[in-house]
Amino acid sequence: MGAGIAQLCVEAGIDTVGREVTADLGEKARERIAHFLSRKVEKGQIESFDIGLLATTTDLDDLADCDVVIEAIVEELEPKRELFAELERICRPDAVLATNTSALSVTDIASRMSTQERVVGMHFFNPAPLMPLVEIVRTERTSDDAFEAAYALGEKLGKHPIRCHDTPGFVVNRVLIPLLNDCVRVLDEARVSPEDLDAGMKYGAGWPMGPCELLDLVGIDVHVHASEAMFDKLREPRMAPPERLVEMLGAGQLGRKSGRGFYRYES
Ligand code: 3HC
Repeated sequence: MGAGIAQLCVEAGIDTVGREVTADLGEKARERIAHFLSRKVEKGQIESFDIGLLATTTDLDDLADCDVVIEAIVEELEPKRELFAELERICRPDAVLATNTSALSVTDIASRMSTQERVVGMHFFNPAPLMPLVEIVRTERTSDDAFEAAYALGEKLGKHPIRCHDTPGFVVNRVLIPLLNDCVRVLDEARVSPEDLDAGMKYGAGWPMGPCELLDLVGIDVHVHASEAMFDKLREPRMAPPERLVEMLGAGQLGRKSGRGFYRYES
């Protein structure tokens, strides 16, 4: 997701610092971004782009001068809390700090900070460069200035932003996560194959891609963590991750990113 968001920033002509955990991952992200933007030029969708706008780093301190930081690390509360505490120390006091969390509470992520008013959710959808929506999420503590700055950035990135509050799953995932969990339960209940379930939802319900394809795209780990976070807050059984997904996570079958999920992928 981070590379997809960085791609949007470069395409919008914004000076961008992409922080990855290793230099190699940063270089791979840069290559991927240059590849997708070059395809857009070839197809006449954009005139040009400047990959020089993207600096990659492994050092959080390099984010010190950013106006906005968008976090897209692992979907777990504790690492995000620690990261936001560090960002608060490193970044300019007027910088907006955004999280791309799928379903964790933005309020919880910001809870150890003394400047919670500058924290917002900017929730992009997978694949970020292709999906038009971004949810702009405010907590009870978010300032109007930070909220509107995030909204304006969403627009500048060519997205359709919507404003919402920090409730479990925000808007789309509140609906989509239990729906995808139902789809996975149907696999076992109706004894249907992933291919047939996907065909069912594409050709019978008009989905652009089937639920198993979609889960592989989003990542089984991301989906299971988001389901657990929503179950924790709402206690509705449909929110809890189906056993099949928990087993896939345990087996490292994470979808596209690991080469195997419901389907197999070439690297
Ligand atoms: N990044 C950048 N560009 C990409 C890309 C990516 N990851 N993947 C594909 N592209 C580009 C390619 O350049 C491609 O063109 P090319 O091959 O000719 O160069 C172009 O986009 C079109 O690709 P596709 O042919 O695959 O596009 P489709 O028309 O099939 O649409 C789709 C793809 C938009 C993904 C469509 O299938 C779709 O809408 N699927 C549903 C996705 C969805 O529901 N996402 C939400 C998931 S939930 C979520 O994210 C929430 C989170 O919190 C978990």
